[in-house]
Amino acid sequence: MIGTANSFAQQQKSETTYLDVAANDHGYEKGLLVHRALTRVPDPDPHIVEIGPGGGAAVAFLASQFEDEPRDVRLTLVEVPGVQSHSLSRAVDRFNTIGTCALVHGWAQDIATLVSGPVDVISASALLHEVYSYGGAYSGLHTMIRTFPSVLKPYGFFVYRDVFAVDAPSLHERAVQSYNARSWLQFLRMFLPHYLHDGTHPYHHHDDEIVVHQNSRIVAAPNLDPRICAVIHAPIGMFREAQRHYITLRDHVWRSGILGFIPILDGQLSGDWIDFRSGHKRVHFTFNDSTRMSSSDHTSITAVSESYGDHHVIDGDIFDAVTDVALNLFLRAVERGDTDCTQVWGTWLAREGRETYAYLTADELLTAFAMHSAEMCTNMPPSALMPVLPEDVFVRERHYYNRFLNKSLANPLTDAKQMVLFQNIPLTDTEALQRALGTIRGHCSKSNLARVHTAIHTRG
Ligand SMILES: C[S@@+](CC[C@H](N)C(=O)[O-])C[C@H]1O[C@@H](n2cnc3c(N)ncnc32)[C@H](O)[C@@H]1O
Repeated sequence: MIGTANSFAQQQKSETTYLDVAANDHGYEKGLLVHRALTRVPDPDPHIVEIGPGGGAAVAFLASQFEDEPRDVRLTLVEVPGVQSHSLSRAVDRFNTIGTCALVHGWAQDIATLVSGPVDVISASALLHEVYSYGGAYSGLHTMIRTFPSVLKPYGFFVYRDVFAVDAPSLHERAVQSYNARSWLQFLRMFLPHYLHDGTHPYHHHDDEIVVHQNSRIVAAPNLDPRICAVIHAPIGMFREAQRHYITLRDHVWRSGILGFIPILDGQLSGDWIDFRSGHKRVHFTFNDSTRMSSSDHTSITAVSESYGDHHVIDGDIFDAVTDVALNLFLRAVERGDTDCTQVWGTWLAREGRETYAYLTADELLTAFAMHSAEMCTNMPPSALMPVLPEDVFVRERHYYNRFLNKSLANPLTDAKQMVLFQNIPLTDTEALQRALGTIRGHCSKSNLARVHTAIHTRG
């Protein structure tokens, strides 16, 4: 077992506000590929395993699907020991009205010992970045990938959903970004040193150095002046990481209530779109009695919003701009040692600040799955985990975040979720392997394709 309760942010991840609410939307997207996999599973009574179900969004979605299309499905959930969620319990109860659902406590890395007999589908949504961050980085990930073929039936499926990294062959490719928004500069000054020092990340190579220029001079990240535009040279994955962390911090600070206004981030009112594809929405929010907000700020925000029943509604772009100003003041208060702000910042750092969200590009991900799964030596015939159909690899963009990033940054990187439906293909099935190689050809570099070919042919 690689992950331990000490290294995993267990307490912070178990908070009701996190698993039950903050990390529990997009149930359709989380259950989508499991549902698709089941349409291709021949067993009339399939066994599914979901690792890291969190607040149970996928469980609830699947229960709702099987209410309409009855099928005797057995679902086993594997969750970290000690992590509890009320909404997961409700989803389990709902699932048990149409099938059988059991919750097992254990670590993803020990999946082979937690599940009896090979299963039809394993699903992991937003899990692999946690295994990378707390469970041994790349070697932890690779060990887990090597285990999957022994837990899956031949032609069984592994459903992958996690943060989309970058549209580049490697996270280490160097890029240049400029920042001039104060809240971002202030954030980078505080976040970068912390992440590089305390986070689990892959940026240790001599060519991974982050070089910050201000006024044509090189400055150390902790000395970055938030009033001056910065030009930063760094690995592209590092920029993606900073973007992702800014967004999770923003969400965390909103939910804490410390800014004096709290957007409704879940449920129907959180998707009040003016134009979905361009990410433009109305944001519903409430004021609270936080003393952080001055009465003049309260008056200004009220003036640019409308009242809506017991709360207010505001244009999303204006809301984002207001938030950036408030977030900048919040971060400066953390630096000054303000107790309340430091506490909110500290809980975010403990829960998210050390994590790496962008750990593999799509090219690297597909290559790693094919190669490490093919390396597995068990009593089962050798197989490889690869997506067979072209539509089994896709991304789902976060339009609202992308709109925000486009307005705040000079060269924003796309915010999206990477989705892949891997199939456990026996290496004797050359036809399925050819189709799978055709699918990954659209995403992998030639050198990675050659590595996959070699791995398959060595074992096959
Ligand atoms: C970011 S949450 C995602 C929750 C849910 N899958 C979703 O997409 O909404 C990660 C989940 O994986 C669990 N988790 C993290 N590391 C794990 C590990 N090593 N083994 C099993 N579960 C793990 C967490 O407790 C949590 O439930």
